[in-house]
Amino acid sequence: MKTFKIAVIPGDGIGPEVISEGIKILNKIAEVDGTFQFEFTEFPWGCEYYTKHGIMMDDDGMDKLKKFDAVYLGAVGYPGVPDYISLWDLLLKIRKGFDQYVNIRPIRLLEAAPCPLKDIDCEDVNMLFIRENSEGEYAGAGDWLFKGKENEVVLQNGVFSRKGTERIIRYAFEVARKEGKTLTSISKANALNYSMVFWDQVFEEISKEYPDVKTASYLVDAAAMLMIKDPKRFEVVVTSNLFGDILTDLGAAIAGGIGLAAGANINPERQYPSMFEPIHGSAPDIAGKNIANPLAAIWSASQILDFLGYEKYGKMVLDSVEQLLIEGQVLTPDMNGVSSTSEVGDRLTSIMTALFESKNLVF
Ligand SMILES: NC(=O)c1ccc[n+]([C@@H]2O[C@H](COP(=O)([O-])OP(=O)(O)OC[C@H]3O[C@@H](n4cnc5c(N)ncnc54)[C@H](O)[C@@H]3O)[C@@H](O)[C@H]2O)c1
Repeated sequence: MKTFKIAVIPGDGIGPEVISEGIKILNKIAEVDGTFQFEFTEFPWGCEYYTKHGIMMDDDGMDKLKKFDAVYLGAVGYPGVPDYISLWDLLLKIRKGFDQYVNIRPIRLLEAAPCPLKDIDCEDVNMLFIRENSEGEYAGAGDWLFKGKENEVVLQNGVFSRKGTERIIRYAFEVARKEGKTLTSISKANALNYSMVFWDQVFEEISKEYPDVKTASYLVDAAAMLMIKDPKRFEVVVTSNLFGDILTDLGAAIAGGIGLAAGANINPERQYPSMFEPIHGSAPDIAGKNIANPLAAIWSASQILDFLGYEKYGKMVLDSVEQLLIEGQVLTPDMNGVSSTSEVGDRLTSIMTALFESKNLVF
């Protein structure tokens, strides 16, 4: 039997609560399929680990993770540990160290998911954001001069290498071509007169290799407005690290809320493991109460299935989530329900099992 080794970093706050529901779903799929299994290895890294050991992850943590097929992460960050430490010493360390330069964030409105937009059809919100994930505005380059003095100066540099810009744009073109969809580039060349002029130029150059892919290009401010006013014009979208970070939270808000938004950090060459996570944080305000919405973590579990080549199962997980929303009986409080995190996971497992049986699915 095939065994997929998954490193699990539940992390802080609601991380462990939502990740265990994702694991429940993955195990159920493997059990029903019968030809493969998951082997989960948990790592206790995160802010609690930091307060005990002074480090977010073991010094040889990256070597330990390297041996896995994928990393499944809950969330990191907790009051008492500065966010820049939890972010840079764990999350960004893994994303950068494993060259996970593609961040995939689906923004898809499932039927019956809450949407703040008026008169909107589900089909109108179905975007696939491909965010540059290794450099750009989050390159960590800069300086802090004359700290605390009157002439204090802070520099935060964006880094846009030709290699980094070409590879993310080319990746997005490949996805758009494969899916037969349009590709939209989002930048800001009017104000960012080096980085974004360069971005637009590279987009233009690479578009010549893909004459079959219809393209569009927007300034980030216009794109933010259009995502609300006319979301259907966005299909596959490629953008920089910072713009992608912000716009996908906006996207999460129009596609059911933060409790439904997932993200995958991909190393396309598969030289290193890729990492899958809900995009929400550790939600310290509701941690430990068993009321966190596990659907984002479960959506990212479906991305693990896609990544491992089981797209049909990935789709089945999303179909089950959609059915759960349509039923509207077992939902967490953020979706106006009264159920617990684990009850949502359990209900989803039964919906999935029934779906298997009713369709007599054999893959
Ligand atoms: N990828 C990550 O690990 C990640 C991402 C964002 C924030 N963070 C960290 O998380 C901590 C808290 O950050 P924040 O409060 O800005 O963002 P957050 O996403 O943790 O919470 C924002 C709001 O959304 C709610 N929420 C989030 N996820 C939910 C879920 N699954 N179900 C129900 N409600 C949910 C929270 O209760 C809170 O009211 C910070 O330390 C931050 O650095 C980590």
